[in-house]
Amino acid sequence: MKKIKLLVLLAGRGAVGKKVRVTVRELANELNVSPQTVLRLLGEMEEEGLIDRLVEGKRTFVEVTPEGAGFLRDLCDEISKALSTGVIIGEVVSGLGEGAYYVKQYSPLIREYLGFEPYPGTLNVRVLFPKTVFDALCNARPVIIPGFTRGGRTFGDVKAYRVRIDSIEGAIVIPSRTVHPPKIAEIVAPFKLREKLGLRDGDRIRIEVVE
Ligand code: CDP
Repeated sequence: MKKIKLLVLLAGRGAVGKKVRVTVRELANELNVSPQTVLRLLGEMEEEGLIDRLVEGKRTFVEVTPEGAGFLRDLCDEISKALSTGVIIGEVVSGLGEGAYYVKQYSPLIREYLGFEPYPGTLNVRVLFPKTVFDALCNARPVIIPGFTRGGRTFGDVKAYRVRIDSIEGAIVIPSRTVHPPKIAEIVAPFKLREKLGLRDGDRIRIEVVE
């Protein structure tokens, strides 16, 4: 654990593929361990081929080797995989009362593309895990609900990701042109979820992304 932290610390200081000067005392402070521990860890990491070390008089230089960088990259992949479980944990919040209007406009298309008659509104959920709605959905494929014009107004394409809450099927809807990863997931469903599941603002819910 400490070794991984030290390797991450060195990589963060730009030591991948380049020697950077470090002081044992600084590293020890950052890791909250003794200088002796840092020296032992550096020794072990050098032996394992994760770093190269060069000592010039009082000055120490460290470089993360390609093996060390590869180790971090693989670890990063494994962490991402372990965290992209297709589950969103969030907190029910209130919106601006605009959901009902929009869902009514898209209602025939939602019926056509998702196969259910949506309750007029969106349940807004502030995402607590993972970081953003996009992070949770990156492995899922959306249903694209095409935009249209009505009464001189333009309604854009919407991406709908099928989800399950308890056993109720619904979808997270995101306007296609959204660039910034939303922190709020807007859910359409065939029922008023607040009633069906007894939800109030601040309640935690678990949303399963249906792959
Ligand atoms: O005011 P807000 O934007 O949050 O709500 P809305 O989209 O106009 O929806 C009206 C109410 O129904 C809100 O309290 C939503 O949280 C709730 N709702 C629900 O419980 N289940 C749905 N499938 C859609 C909306």
